[in-house]
Amino acid sequence: MRIHELAKKLGIDSKELLVKLQSLNFPVKSHMSSVDDDTAEIIKNEIVDLKKKEIEENVIEVDFPISVKDLAVKLNKKPSELLSDLLKEGKFLNINQNLDDKMAAEIAYKYKINLKKKPTQEEAILIKTEAKDLKKRAPIVTLMGHIDHGKTSLLDYIRKSKIAEKESGGITQHTGAYQVNLPKGKITFLDTPGHETFTAMRSRGANITDAVILVVASDEGVKPQTEEALDHAKAANVPILVAITKMDKANANPDMVKQQLSKLDLTPEDWGGKTTTVGVSAKTGQGIDELLDLILLQAELLELKADYGRAAVGAVVEARLSKGKGPLVAVLVREGVLKVGDCCVCGHYWGKIKAMNDDRGNNVVTAEPSAPVEVLGLNGVPNPGDQLFVVPDEKSAKEIVERRREEDAKLKLKAPAHFKLEDLYKKVKEEHQKQLKVILKADVGGTLEAVDEALKKISHEEVELVLSHKGVGAINASDVLLAEVTDAIIVGFKVTIDNQARDLAKQKGIEIRVYQIVYELIDDIKAAFEGMLTPQVKKIFVGRARVKAVFKLSKSGIIAGSIIEKGKMQRNLTCQLMRGNKIIFEGKISSLKRFKDDVKEVAEGVECGIGIGYNEIEEGDYIDAYSEELITRRLK
Ligand code: GTP
Ligand code: MG
Repeated sequence: MRIHELAKKLGIDSKELLVKLQSLNFPVKSHMSSVDDDTAEIIKNEIVDLKKKEIEENVIEVDFPISVKDLAVKLNKKPSELLSDLLKEGKFLNINQNLDDKMAAEIAYKYKINLKKKPTQEEAILIKTEAKDLKKRAPIVTLMGHIDHGKTSLLDYIRKSKIAEKESGGITQHTGAYQVNLPKGKITFLDTPGHETFTAMRSRGANITDAVILVVASDEGVKPQTEEALDHAKAANVPILVAITKMDKANANPDMVKQQLSKLDLTPEDWGGKTTTVGVSAKTGQGIDELLDLILLQAELLELKADYGRAAVGAVVEARLSKGKGPLVAVLVREGVLKVGDCCVCGHYWGKIKAMNDDRGNNVVTAEPSAPVEVLGLNGVPNPGDQLFVVPDEKSAKEIVERRREEDAKLKLKAPAHFKLEDLYKKVKEEHQKQLKVILKADVGGTLEAVDEALKKISHEEVELVLSHKGVGAINASDVLLAEVTDAIIVGFKVTIDNQARDLAKQKGIEIRVYQIVYELIDDIKAAFEGMLTPQVKKIFVGRARVKAVFKLSKSGIIAGSIIEKGKMQRNLTCQLMRGNKIIFEGKISSLKRFKDDVKEVAEGVECGIGIGYNEIEEGDYIDAYSEELITRRLK
């Protein structure tokens, strides 16, 4: 085929095609050069891709909805042209009427323009731009573990201060963020009251931690909350170091801890595993230097960097209302340098920063990435995990907050969509999800193990059952939060659901199922599993038509005048065009006609016109039609 013929077929100018082909390094000299069929096919695909790419790159940003008149201005067309385009689609509009994003984009596409939604003010500020001043930042490390295992004391020793003594009852009531400045570098620590807070922050999108230190007391060993904390840490997908604390105690038994760790998939390095463990004491200081060195080493490996040059962004660690000062917000800076006087937005609030304190209560005027600071000046108390970001001025701050409030009010009207067993099939199709994540709770250790064993037996090469967490006792808020961030379902066996968990699950749309009979539990999980296996498609022969003549209709393209030799034909069935024993084309029966009328079905022995969206049909071809049935595959 000659280039000019091919150009005609592709509906483009032959000179243009020649230039494009030469730019794609096809060895063609003039538009009289000829190419073979295979090359023509390759060229066709290349040109289609090129056209698509050209449109993709030709971006115009607009706000939706947009009126016909405004769109015409943006596209540099006459409004009447757009109106006639719309009319062809069967839409009667006047120039002042609004188009939704889909309609407007379709019209723009015709004019080779990729119409995009203009980013909101907020999106424009938060958008990741090329870094202006990329530099090293301190690692952010979270301490997690069972209550009283020594997290706060460890930090105290490191900071050489006495936070634990100041705490009421010695229990950490809120999340503290602290930074230590060591000769080898800075480290930011987060001391969490419980892993729930950690996960709650993550569920708000604040994945702030670079590593987790799992704290296990050498005298008590691994406790249920240690395991819970570990699962929350694992869900965050960050490196985990283990600090075995209280090594000064007479009954310290680090070997027992190491053995327990091995069972939790955290086999210590000195036992041939991969997990770094350090024995420490907050009383004597044993092992603490080693721990700090290991953290800094880990940080080196992670090559942590932040852009010091951009407008500052941080995450709220905690926030409270102080009687004299108003809202006090502890923020961990993530990018940019936060300064006194900056105007910022945080959650549903905004304000100009009046003053900042570092973690020791000293006044500071700037805070670099990874630095924790307490910020004064917001007009309300945001939530932990909320993002704080600097905006150009008060006006944009107010606008962003207003918009957020409106959007939240709208969202509240909608029920949250999370993960339900029933949705599995849909989800598999949409996202190719091949993991079923489960949080399992049981009444006692024995049954927990029994159910776990039974679940492990349900297996298939395509889908994996992942236990995000298992534990003994009532289903609690921590389980619900973990389910939210890991997209798991919660399954309980002979347990209750505590009230807070019930409310939270309802609010977040997390499914909880509690069973009294183990077989029912297993059956439901099996059913969910089967729903996740890619269904097999079974083709069922419906009918065969012989093509007697081929003609072209202006509207419907090529139509095959045929007779049904076997079975019947139905519109929308899948079909194969057969020439002898060869499959020429596979597609769908897109149109089915009796004389001039569209029909849904044609019976055996009857003549009809069939369109399959393929133009090279020949007399004597056969069209075989099939229906498709999805079969759920059973587990063996
Ligand atoms: P929560 O914040 O309540 O979860 O506790 P925590 O993990 O922060 O524990 P915390 O540091 O408050 O310590 C609990 C108790 O253990 C306190 O009475 C400490 O004095 C004691 N303790 C902590 N570390 C050590 C240690 O290394 N050696 C000894 N002997 N006691 C310790
Ligand atoms: Mg504490």
